[in-house]
Amino acid sequence: MERCNRLVDVGRRQFLRGSAFAAAGAAAAVSLPATPAKAAPGLALVEYPSNRLANIAHQKPKEPLDVGYPDDNAPGVLLKLGTRVEGGAGPDGDIVGFSTVCPHKGFPLNYNAEDRTLNCPGHYSRFDCEAGGLQIWGQATQNLPQYQLRVDEKGDIFAEGLDELIYGRLSNVL
Ligand code: FES
Repeated sequence: MERCNRLVDVGRRQFLRGSAFAAAGAAAAVSLPATPAKAAPGLALVEYPSNRLANIAHQKPKEPLDVGYPDDNAPGVLLKLGTRVEGGAGPDGDIVGFSTVCPHKGFPLNYNAEDRTLNCPGHYSRFDCEAGGLQIWGQATQNLPQYQLRVDEKGDIFAEGLDELIYGRLSNVL
């Protein structure tokens, strides 16, 4: 019986020691100075090159111009929509550019000048070029990456960034 009482006593002491450690840990956690958490930079936020893609003299409504940005292995298109749109560049605010790689599974997109959409022959996703590449139908789960454009005093059109990650890349700039 005495042996049994000793075991109970040992168990009680271990329990109390564990409780003391837990209380000390909680107190330390509460009193630690808060260090600000650093968010990882977004994947699309990288140093982009400033590439001349065309001149506004060569841009005509309804005629898409095939380009590559930020490098030649990233196909895209420059469009003169004929209507001022948000994010549009140039004197008429109607020049936009997009990646033409479908964000769903990478099929090449086709431009439809009638409704100003880019369309995927793979699984039929559609993207509105007048609304920043907004997906309007289909399997994709992301809008189309749109170019950030600048037009200089000579009318040269430069791409200087993208607002979404290009399909198949871990970083837009390799
Ligand atoms: Fe474009 Fe599937 S690859 S919708």
